[in-house]
Amino acid sequence: MAKFTVNGQQQDIQVEPDTPLLWVLREQVGLTGTKYGCGIAQCGACTVHVDGVAMRSCSVPVSLIEGKQITTIEGLAQNGVLTKVQKAWLDNDVPQCGYCQCGMIMAVSALLKDKPKPTDADIDAAITNICRCGTFQQVRTAIHAAANA
Ligand code: FES
Ligand code: FES
Repeated sequence: MAKFTVNGQQQDIQVEPDTPLLWVLREQVGLTGTKYGCGIAQCGACTVHVDGVAMRSCSVPVSLIEGKQITTIEGLAQNGVLTKVQKAWLDNDVPQCGYCQCGMIMAVSALLKDKPKPTDADIDAAITNICRCGTFQQVRTAIHAAANA
């Protein structure tokens, strides 16, 4: 049994303790915005927040998140109001295929909480998510837009 909170809702889930958080979110909780890319903590498609910290959920066993608060892409907007990061993504037409973008937005949201005005060097150091469509320049533009919003 694993007990934790997802987007403000308590979850009590019967699952093996070494099950990756990614699969619990997608298959037990039913939130499929968090994506599977590599499964080895390299691509960032599965990024969620654990107690406000960006983590790659494919590589976090559910036993490690007991009692913690998880936020997924579905939990960012409140009462239908997008966050400034989500708005900047729309305004700057960042996504191409979109597959990596939920993880990208989660990583960027955590960065801007820690560093509200990141430099390009800060962005390069913190945002190591991989985008096969090559949206990196638009991501950078949107991060600066969100920081200045
Ligand atoms: S699927 Fe988790 S980092 Fe790639
Ligand atoms: S938008 Fe297609 S992988 Fe990033």
